[in-house]
Amino acid sequence: MIRYRRVPDDLRPDQLTGFFVGWPSPPSPDEHLTILRRAQHAVLAFDGDRVVGFVTGLSDGVFSAYLPLLEVLPEYQGRGIGQELVKRIVDEIGAVYSIDIVCDDDVVPFYDKLGFLKVRGMVFRPSRDS
Ligand SMILES: CC(C)(COP(=O)(O)OP(=O)(O)OC[C@H]1O[C@@H](n2cnc3c(N)ncnc32)[C@H](O)[C@@H]1OP(=O)(O)O)[C@@H](O)C(=O)NCCC(=O)NCCS
Repeated sequence: MIRYRRVPDDLRPDQLTGFFVGWPSPPSPDEHLTILRRAQHAVLAFDGDRVVGFVTGLSDGVFSAYLPLLEVLPEYQGRGIGQELVKRIVDEIGAVYSIDIVCDDDVVPFYDKLGFLKVRGMVFRPSRDS
């Protein structure tokens, strides 16, 4: 059974393996733990002791919020976990004007189903040349 929780105080890096599939320079499990701890909002999906999905959120609490990361381990995808993580973090963030994400085209249908709108956007990546 999948359980959804905030970041437990005793979460360990070895519970955070298998994420960031296909990333050229993925965060290490230690860095992943730091990301989860420092995010204002985070919801994790657990199968027993193992984290199988997570979502993070940053918010000013009044106007805007942003979901930087959402991922479900490949072998757990297609079971409604991603949808549940987004619903829970949107609920946790509460009443703000906007909750934004940036995603590739292939994930647009996933966010469509959750009521997100497609808009044009710009991003700045100071550490990259392209
Ligand atoms: C995108 C992701 C989080 C979805 O998680 P998931 O647990 O597999 O999604 P769910 O099972 O909750 O799917 C909910 C619905 O969205 C659909 N869906 C899920 N992923 C989809 C995708 N990539 N493209 C189109 N539809 C998708 C499902 O078919 C399902 O539809 P249904 O309710 O009609 O059956 C997961 O595929 C993932 O981790 N991908 C790699 C990382 C990534 O792309 N993250 C998003 C960054 S913005």
